Amino acid sequence: MRFSAFVFDAYGTLFDVHAAVRKYAGEIGPEGRRLSEIWRAKQLEYSWVGTLMGEHVDFWTLTERALDYAFRKVPSADRSLREGLLEAYWHLDCYPEVPGVLRALKGAGARLAILSNGSRAMLEAAVRSAALETVLDDIFSADQAQKFKTDPAVYDLVTTSWRLYPDAVSFQSSNRWDIAGAARCGFRTVWINRTQEPDEYADHQPDLILPSLDGLITAS
Ligand code: LAC
Repeated sequence: MRFSAFVFDAYGTLFDVHAAVRKYAGEIGPEGRRLSEIWRAKQLEYSWVGTLMGEHVDFWTLTERALDYAFRKVPSADRSLREGLLEAYWHLDCYPEVPGVLRALKGAGARLAILSNGSRAMLEAAVRSAALETVLDDIFSADQAQKFKTDPAVYDLVTTSWRLYPDAVSFQSSNRWDIAGAARCGFRTVWINRTQEPDEYADHQPDLILPSLDGLITAS
């Protein structure tokens, strides 16, 4: 392999953010998908707005606030599910190929980490529940930078800690905005386009596009 350092975004890339709502699909009813999409969109918006105004509130608090907003936008969803949905967010399913790909990379001698806007506690819980502790060398949380991606200070956590030039690091994310941020910082970028989204951020193209993490090893 040409690369020996691999960094993964967490939510949407390793862990399925819609798994929490899916778990309660029967109770939530037909608007579940919409609730989940608003929840995710607002969680991200709050992170960007906070960083732009120079105020850092941890990602868990933003996740709670975003769900509360989503419930207000989707009144048909049963609010008594709030605690269950939040609890499920700590144990999101990982995508099926994730454990195998990470183990194979590790077996080939690569160094692996997560770089995420998630709080350290959230990330550690998700990693534990997917049994990925032994394959990951590091978990980098935006909390350490007191800013959220796409602020370069967050991507710098990796290169500063690992003492690597950014082009020696392969960064994988399913979030196109995150790929733009990482490309801007000089990482090799792999956009995991799981849901066939149209391309955007033309000034910051990914080096590679894959439909899942399968194929990452042969492309690296
Ligand atoms: C992450 C997000 C927000 O940084 O997907 O994990």
